[in-house]
Amino acid sequence: MTSPSSAAGDRARALIAGIGSCLPPLVVTNTQVIARGNLDTTDAWITGRTGIHRRRLAGPAISTGDLATAAARAAIDSAGSAVPRPDLLLLATTTPDRPCPATAPEVAHRLGLGTVPAFDLAAVCSGFLYGLVTASALLRSGTCRAPLVVAAEKYSTIVDPFDRDTAPLFGDAAAAVALRLGDADEPGAVLETDWGSDGGGSDLITVAAGGSRLPATGIDTGIGIGTPGHGDRCFRMRGRQVYAHAVRRMTSSSEVVLATTGWRPEEVRAFIGHQANQRILDAVADRLGVPPRHRLGNIRDVGNTAGASVPLALADAAARHACAPGARTLLTAFGGGLTWASATLLWPDAPVRTAAPEPRPPLHDHQEVSPP
Ligand code: UT7
Repeated sequence: MTSPSSAAGDRARALIAGIGSCLPPLVVTNTQVIARGNLDTTDAWITGRTGIHRRRLAGPAISTGDLATAAARAAIDSAGSAVPRPDLLLLATTTPDRPCPATAPEVAHRLGLGTVPAFDLAAVCSGFLYGLVTASALLRSGTCRAPLVVAAEKYSTIVDPFDRDTAPLFGDAAAAVALRLGDADEPGAVLETDWGSDGGGSDLITVAAGGSRLPATGIDTGIGIGTPGHGDRCFRMRGRQVYAHAVRRMTSSSEVVLATTGWRPEEVRAFIGHQANQRILDAVADRLGVPPRHRLGNIRDVGNTAGASVPLALADAAARHACAPGARTLLTAFGGGLTWASATLLWPDAPVRTAAPEPRPPLHDHQEVSPP
């Protein structure tokens, strides 16, 4: 489904005015993953099948919210004083700090954003682009003036360290963009979007326990719901099937959004896809006809960072000045749900900021906010 026309005028677009990212400091190489001795795998298998050489892990002291707060603050800093103070925060994550409440309000609070609306968005690895579509629509409708789209993940808390199908793949990270309204020909302008889902494939990527079908607690609820085993609490993926869906959906969604924008694939100067697997990225780019020199990404160094992977790759490439501001850019993602989304934009002209994770300050008793 493509984006609706704008209430703010045909040329008004959401514009990426600030970019921030946060990687936890602990680097874990494939050799270190293998040295744990609990996976029957090899460096050759991991690098050959996925393109991943190392990943970053957060460790017990750093939460998704800590990564998100740092990345969001970095994006605000990157946007500078020309952009209004953020008035909405949207956090794409599959690994919130707690099942309840959402992590976004606490991140907004830690950023000092007062009482702005803040909510989590669950679209798994398509989360950032789902967030970008949502925030763009809210911005263009006049519902907000300066939304922050943050994507943060700590998959190390849900990946089964004994599952060789998934354990070597994932890393922890966060990245964020600060948006404002701009013109369709300005660097950073988000031009067209496409998004979709297919719940018929919902069993292909799952964490079975922790919801209303199977509570995570194992407490006898008295209503006949079973207790979860270890595997139910972990992330499970039917990799081979997901692979085929990922290639198909990212390709078709990219084709839709390129056609809506009026660009030919060979005119794309920056292609960033969800970094699940370098082979998937190459298959999508090959099918579209985007030449290798215009494919950007950092899966080699960060692994699959789920919802954070697209903005993280954007931040990495922008920090390296891999593209000129205004260059034709295609973003596409695919994830559990199944979900997928794509966007065309003009390469942003924002000074990327990177930040270390922000430890959560000690909790104080909630002070009542005076009614207005
Ligand atoms: O981020 C959300 C979306 N996720 C994705 O898009 C991921 C999609 N899937 C993939 O990226 C790939 O399917 C994987 C990387 C997960 C797996 O790669 P594959 O080339 O599709 O491997 P496969 O599942 O077809 O397995 C091939 C063989 C199997 O052995 P047999 O049955 O051929 O004897 C697996 O048991 O590789 C085996 N295998 C491993 N061997 C060594 C699976 N994992 C490992 C491993 N080390 N870590």
